[in-house]
Amino acid sequence: MNVLILGSGGREHVLAWKASQSAKIDKLYVAPGNAGTLEVADNVSINVKDFKEIGKFCVDNKIDIVVPGSEDPLVEGIVDFFRDEPQLQSIYVFGPDKQAAQLEGSKEYAKEFMLENDIPTAGYRSFTSESFDEAKQYIAQKPAPYVLKADGLAAGKGVVICDTLDAANQVLEEMLLDEKFGSASSTVVIEDFLQGIEFSIFAMSDGENYIILPEAKDYKRIGEGDTGLNTGGMGAVSPVPFMTEDYLKKVEQEIIAPTFDGLRKRNMQFVGFVFFGLINDNGQPKVIEYNVRMGDPETEVVFPRIASDFGEWLELAKNKRLKDANVDIRPDTCTTVFTVSGGYPEAYEKGKQIQIDTTNSDEQLVFHAGTKMSEGDIVTSGGRVIAVSAFGKNIPSALEKSYQGVKGVQFDAMYYRTDIGKDLINL
Ligand SMILES: Nc1ncnc2c1ncn2[C@@H]1O[C@H](COP(=O)(O)OP(=O)(O)O)[C@@H](O)[C@H]1O
Ligand SMILES: [Mg+2]
Repeated sequence: MNVLILGSGGREHVLAWKASQSAKIDKLYVAPGNAGTLEVADNVSINVKDFKEIGKFCVDNKIDIVVPGSEDPLVEGIVDFFRDEPQLQSIYVFGPDKQAAQLEGSKEYAKEFMLENDIPTAGYRSFTSESFDEAKQYIAQKPAPYVLKADGLAAGKGVVICDTLDAANQVLEEMLLDEKFGSASSTVVIEDFLQGIEFSIFAMSDGENYIILPEAKDYKRIGEGDTGLNTGGMGAVSPVPFMTEDYLKKVEQEIIAPTFDGLRKRNMQFVGFVFFGLINDNGQPKVIEYNVRMGDPETEVVFPRIASDFGEWLELAKNKRLKDANVDIRPDTCTTVFTVSGGYPEAYEKGKQIQIDTTNSDEQLVFHAGTKMSEGDIVTSGGRVIAVSAFGKNIPSALEKSYQGVKGVQFDAMYYRTDIGKDLINL
């Protein structure tokens, strides 16, 4: 079969790398892809939101399965678009439709869904500009810190945590009255603050069955010790040490199974990946958020651990037989460290030539994110540039290899965090 992956980040390079090893897949394309996906697939220069062009490409190239990497095309309805076009109906898009994508596209929708299905999560209320005064009263009786979330997609910037009531009131006003995030903040969810280690677990669903993928922890802030501005992610580790068999059982019984049951109750056949963003609140896993796709950089540590054939999983999913999938997970620890452009996540320069001396092996993998080819050279084209994933018997030995691999990557003003995974070592 022929497969088209949509996206151009590290996650899509990993998915393409994994798919390229499948005995089931003949032709593999990535749109638009990056300099890394070129090594394992054909890049196609189409924007992930240009559904018409994507559809045309799929027909012309006899694509059987489309795998959207990021949330944008899903929340904008690529699944619905393919379903409504007679010519495209037979092509399987491995992702949720627009309605099911609301689990990620609307924080309020996700919270209501969790409440309805008794899924553990932080207490909350949501407000609009009309209930602005009530919102102020609501937070005034709450202890600090305050968690304010713009309801809609806001490029990862829609969640603000405030230490003081004054700051919270100001953010509330910016979001609700000044529409700081446009229509994304016309509704604001105010949540109770939870304390604990955050981690993520992933499931892959065909609408009727699901399989659980390994968990991971990512490192979001730009600075050492998890300080400074939020980024797309500076590194990740899988597995996480407190994920014992019992804990996983708890997560499955209290969170994963009720989520899929709840989706069925709403008559939604959820196809695709579910990312459960969790927090370990004194031994109780609680949901921080859902995403309707794999995480990036989590994919860079989760997928290398999957020994099974990804093409086979996709084919089984297409036939609603994912329950027959062989789920073979490598027990070793995998870590990834991201190299980023100097200045990121604020302004940074692009077009820097990249030198990569690290070679891929069973133990060490170089994944591209913000890279592209320019006159025969690999150059930077984004904030997060190259991730080096590596295996080890434990976190320190995997990290040692990730950092060794990072030493073989060079570009002007390159930066990376040196403390990825360190907080998990003595847990
Ligand atoms: N209720 C909460 N308590 C404590 N921290 C939270 C809470 N909700 C969100 N956060 C923090 O804010 C981050 C972003 O929130 P999240 O809901 O994941 O939004 P998004 O990823 O869409 O920006 C989380 O990763 C977490 O660190
Ligand atoms: Mg999040």
